[in-house]
Amino acid sequence: MCGITATVGADDAVSRLLTGLENLEYRGYDSAGVAVANGSGVEVVKREGQVDELVDLLSTASIGGHVGLGHTRWSTHGPPTNANAHPHTDCRGELAVVHNGIVENHAELRERLQAAGHTFTSDTDTEVVPHLVEEYLATGAGVETAFRRAVADLSGSYAIALVHEDEDAVYATRQGSPLVFGVADGADSRSTSEGATYYLASDVPAFLEFTDDVVYLEDGDVVRAAPDGYEITDPEGSAVDRPVESVEWSSEDVEKGSFDHYMRKEIDEQPTAIAQAVRGRADDGRVAFESLSDGAFADVDRVQFVACGTSYHAALYGAQLLRDRGIPSRVFLASEYATTAPPAGDGTILVGVTQSGETADTLAALRRGRSEGLRTMAVTNVVGSTAARECDETVFIRAGPEIGVAATKTFSSQVVTLTLLAERIRRDVTGSHSEAAPELLDALSELPSAVGSTLADSSAESIAERYGDSDAYFFVGRGSAHPVALEGALKLKEISYEHAEGFPAGELKHGPLALVTPNTPVFAVATGAHTEKLLGSIEEVSARGAPVIAVAPRSEEAVAEAADDVLWVPESHPELVGLLANVQLQLLSYHTATLLDRPVDKPRNLAKSVTVE
Ligand code: F6R
Repeated sequence: MCGITATVGADDAVSRLLTGLENLEYRGYDSAGVAVANGSGVEVVKREGQVDELVDLLSTASIGGHVGLGHTRWSTHGPPTNANAHPHTDCRGELAVVHNGIVENHAELRERLQAAGHTFTSDTDTEVVPHLVEEYLATGAGVETAFRRAVADLSGSYAIALVHEDEDAVYATRQGSPLVFGVADGADSRSTSEGATYYLASDVPAFLEFTDDVVYLEDGDVVRAAPDGYEITDPEGSAVDRPVESVEWSSEDVEKGSFDHYMRKEIDEQPTAIAQAVRGRADDGRVAFESLSDGAFADVDRVQFVACGTSYHAALYGAQLLRDRGIPSRVFLASEYATTAPPAGDGTILVGVTQSGETADTLAALRRGRSEGLRTMAVTNVVGSTAARECDETVFIRAGPEIGVAATKTFSSQVVTLTLLAERIRRDVTGSHSEAAPELLDALSELPSAVGSTLADSSAESIAERYGDSDAYFFVGRGSAHPVALEGALKLKEISYEHAEGFPAGELKHGPLALVTPNTPVFAVATGAHTEKLLGSIEEVSARGAPVIAVAPRSEEAVAEAADDVLWVPESHPELVGLLANVQLQLLSYHTATLLDRPVDKPRNLAKSVTVE
């Protein structure tokens, strides 16, 4: 949801900025722009459209400088137009700003600035920032002071970077929106080493190919980075010490390689991602997490989950596993958590499931829980993310970077991690793992190869071709197949733009059945549990002429026979079959979307990491 980047170093900034923008485009792709400061002014090139269109524009614009900013936009205030694209400038064009987040008091600031004679050229909330800085510069303040004073006027969430024509430096700060600082060429904290190159970005993949040394900035930090070093200070200007940490992800992880789409690459990466999620956590038949001491959950009597979208579906899966182990669990859509009064007590742990660790709704729900005294835990993919930093405890899903807007491998890694967590909580609470644990843990260690066979032997493409001309698509399942049905429908609608809905199979007859026709295929997810009842639901839709496609292991003979087509999944532990079925549904969505020629990695209106509530 908007990606910002900035760089300063000895070489020309533009190519590094464009690399950063290409790597950040999953955060928004309706407009893009760069600004460079080069000693004789600030030059801005920006336009509506994707980063490759900006690249084309820059091939004839010939701008250069070794200090610069970049932005890729997901519109919040004002439609995607050239004028609304970032960077934004002051009246005189002496400085440029990029911003991710929302300036909540922009209307009142705009009014104040217009009354003082400032002319605005965009509809964005962001544009108040360069004008505010300009206003403070006019009082005689230096660039840094003016920047600090402008930022102090803002309310809302922001990560902001600024360049000014008089300074060979980038200034940046964050409040509630992600911002990381990359340090290249071996420079250490507060370095003055010559030849260092520095990067600022909404997310690490922006600069991974240049450096894996990162400083995770805290809210309120102000960075000044210049060719001769950098300094991080608090809002009052006192120096703060932030460690430089090494990121485990590699630059290959964020490259598409020979794949047509990131989504396809990430679907194929699932065997590795799952193996990473399990590695070292289920040895000797006991579940252990590197970050959690033995007995860490002994006092837990209730688990609440908060999450959005695909992560919500993973949380539903995890909550079911917990309930099956006798631990009361409930899942809330994070955006609704504030509207309910969830029962909570001393033994409640609030778990935020969030791939990015930056989803504003999930962060707000976790903060609400914290403010009410709940113990909080993040289950996330991103080291240094806000969720990881703010929660009492964190368990990482270790999926590696996910660039495709549609979450795929992170769902699988979340489910696997939550499966382990469910067993671990059960052991801490009751003193022993569940009866299912030995077989479940064995099945988890074999899951990467089961996912590999699912991928190698899938008829999802031909099913996508056969049913590609349908009016709508329905997905049903019971138990752990229910979140898979929801996820199958979400994936299909988000990347193919086809109408798709997921239901608990038993709910069909209470309303959705009215929508079922011979031109609405129904995907029935079977996991080996609740088969008789699922067969009943299949009968109901078959009787209305709807084609049924079972997503099932071969042991589900009756389901396969009742269906018109089958997407087979390997046999596995009943609690993991749903995850394998989900891999088939990911492929189904992928092929449906590619057959329709959709922009799979950049579906319209969406962006990864939704950092506004
Ligand atoms: C769908 C998708 C979204 C995210 C949701 C939460 O494919 O990716 O539904 O799952 O925006 O994101 P995180 O997990 O980053 O909190």
